[in-house]
Amino acid sequence: MTEDENAGRELIRLMTGPWVARSVATAVRLGVVDRLAEGAADAEEIAGALGLHPDRLHRLLRLLSAVDLVQPRAGRYELTGTGAGLQRKHPSRLRDLVLLYDSGMFARAWGSLEESVRTGRTAFEAAHGTDVFTYLSEHPGDAERYSAGIAAGGRFGKALPAVYDFADATVVADLGGGDGDLLCTVLDHAPHLRGVLVERPTALPAASERLSAHLESGRATLVAGDFLESVPSGADVHILSRVLHNWSDDEARAVLRRSREALEPGGRVLILERILPDDGSPLLASLFDVHMMVMTSGAERTEHQYEALLRDAGLTTERVADLSLEMRLLVAAPLRG
Ligand SMILES: C[S@@+](CC[C@H](N)C(=O)[O-])C[C@H]1O[C@@H](n2cnc3c(N)ncnc32)[C@H](O)[C@@H]1O
Repeated sequence: MTEDENAGRELIRLMTGPWVARSVATAVRLGVVDRLAEGAADAEEIAGALGLHPDRLHRLLRLLSAVDLVQPRAGRYELTGTGAGLQRKHPSRLRDLVLLYDSGMFARAWGSLEESVRTGRTAFEAAHGTDVFTYLSEHPGDAERYSAGIAAGGRFGKALPAVYDFADATVVADLGGGDGDLLCTVLDHAPHLRGVLVERPTALPAASERLSAHLESGRATLVAGDFLESVPSGADVHILSRVLHNWSDDEARAVLRRSREALEPGGRVLILERILPDDGSPLLASLFDVHMMVMTSGAERTEHQYEALLRDAGLTTERVADLSLEMRLLVAAPLRG
């Protein structure tokens, strides 16, 4: 292939990314993936079972095969390993991530990226007329999709107990803890711990469901609160997972100060984020940085940028460890003196 052909092919691949994403989400939404999870089938059988158009479905399946989500075998299609992860019953719940990323709420916000780059305005606010968290509190359907999709993207948290030793901790507070999946991981791992989840009031029902066993046993408590204003006292470990990247430097500083004020002596703040390297451009961290620009006033930051914010709040970086999917754990300790 000539250099020109290569460049053309690569640009087409980049520019048709949204077509592929929409095709995947369409197959998930229409139940095609769940039907294939029951066993190999051809387009006619699936179309018959789901009331779809056989020829159109055949063409959709051909594209899904080209991107390795299904594979043809003896005239029928079956799910590949990646495709199998999208079925409703799969423990990864990646289906929820697909539905969130393909949602109108995200698509309309991304539609205003150009305005964001021109003016510095948050694209989400240009598109929806309000900030994302106020919008979610007013749109229960989108809020449910958001909570489920964010939780599905949180699999990196399963590795937290392997990179942070909770043996000396007594109470862990997960600030902006989402649906409670990460706190559940920590409490399941360390039976001596108690946990507190701080969230916006409208986000608490999902956490209440996920943490039900720990709530019933008295090991977990839910607190409706605003971490920009205050953080409940009594915890010696605070978790901020994918929280600081939602906020501008001033707001992130405020969250860290509230955390530092409430932290028990000798405590630690665990920050889980995609931390940008000072040079180079890792794909996921750069992608989510632009996504933060679209959705919020926040950003992905370098380790140096985090350290500057931490110091302003009386904290400092103790160590950094790798999780998965370019996520990292930054352990922050109170500054001495
Ligand atoms: C990107 S999600 C991360 C959720 C979870 N920590 C995780 O990693 O899966 C950010 C969370 O911050 C919560 N949040 C936003 N503003 C908040 C505030 N002012 N006080 C408490 N929680 C807030 C949102 O409801 C949302 O669940």
